Amino acid sequence: MLKPELLAQIDTAAAILRQGGVVAFPTETVYGLGADASNPAAVRRIFKIKGRPADHPLIVHLADQSQLSHWAREVPDAARLLASHFWPGPLTLILPRSQHVSDIVTGGQDTVGLRVPSHPVALALLRAMGPAAALAAPSANRYGRISPTTAEHVREELGDTVDMILDGGPCQVGLESTIVSFIGDTITVLRPGGIPLAALEQVLQQKLTVVDSTGSSVRVSGSLLSHYAPVTPLEILTSADLWQRACELEAQGLRVATLEWSAPNAVHLTSSGHSEHGRIVRSTMPADPAAYGQMLYATLRQLDSAHFDRLLAEAPPKTAAWLAVADRLRRASYRE
Ligand code: TXA
Ligand code: MG
Repeated sequence: MLKPELLAQIDTAAAILRQGGVVAFPTETVYGLGADASNPAAVRRIFKIKGRPADHPLIVHLADQSQLSHWAREVPDAARLLASHFWPGPLTLILPRSQHVSDIVTGGQDTVGLRVPSHPVALALLRAMGPAAALAAPSANRYGRISPTTAEHVREELGDTVDMILDGGPCQVGLESTIVSFIGDTITVLRPGGIPLAALEQVLQQKLTVVDSTGSSVRVSGSLLSHYAPVTPLEILTSADLWQRACELEAQGLRVATLEWSAPNAVHLTSSGHSEHGRIVRSTMPADPAAYGQMLYATLRQLDSAHFDRLLAEAPPKTAAWLAVADRLRRASYRE
């Protein structure tokens, strides 16, 4: 049950959206920056606020699965099956778009990304907007930056450039939705995310192709390697190499933060728990991929604001369960 005060804010937000405004709202994955999907002028403002190129399509968020056929002109059985298993939830389906989807939303492509979020505030907002309402919404960060997982992060990213920010607490998933494309002959995972690959494969009873974030020919903004990047340069190292690299950088006078999940290397610390020069700060990350994913962006933001010179992340295990975390770390580590 949502508190009356929050319900009143949701009503205000819905009114703002109906009038063509732009509202940041919580989803279970990350915060979104929403506008009425059927109002091209409002959607255009999202691109302006984010500084996002106009040819990068937005996801259309729906209140429930029954609206799928309104926004997609073809819905294969497999897509329906995934929708009924995982919606509401962190899954986006890419399907041929219907005539109701404007070019502004899809960046001119003939396809549309659809998702029913599970966050109660997102669902209440969609329902308050009216029957069959849809929210076009990317993550509520400036272009190329880490997605926000709290309302405070949205404020840091976008300040008062948006008409309203709804606060629904910290996001439970913490990484963006899994994107599955039904365009072409094979079902393809375009972005690993909140729904693990194994869960999709189990429901579909088939193996899926995962498009490597370096090799995609589809125009997915999240597949640009410069995406999801912290300000502080980040390197990924095996646990065997991590501490040596940290000491090397420390010896050069740099302040270093590590993100470690396997908690090794304690042997390298002095008895007081510090590194030799006290310029290495260690963060212990969860050894469970879902828990790690939930706190990754918030941790990167926190380390960014502590102004380290370098972040060193221990490489995650090379298993399917860690795909989304590994993908986001790889993107975060990119430097031109
Ligand atoms: O969890 C999420 O998906 C969050 C929350 C707010 O729902 N949204 C999100 O949106 O991450 P955004 O715009 O930051 O990332 C959506 C990704 C982009 O990489 C975009 O290019 C891709 O989805 N996308 C959207 N429509 C597409 C389409 N028709 N074909 C291919 N990729 C598409
Ligand atoms: Mg994004």
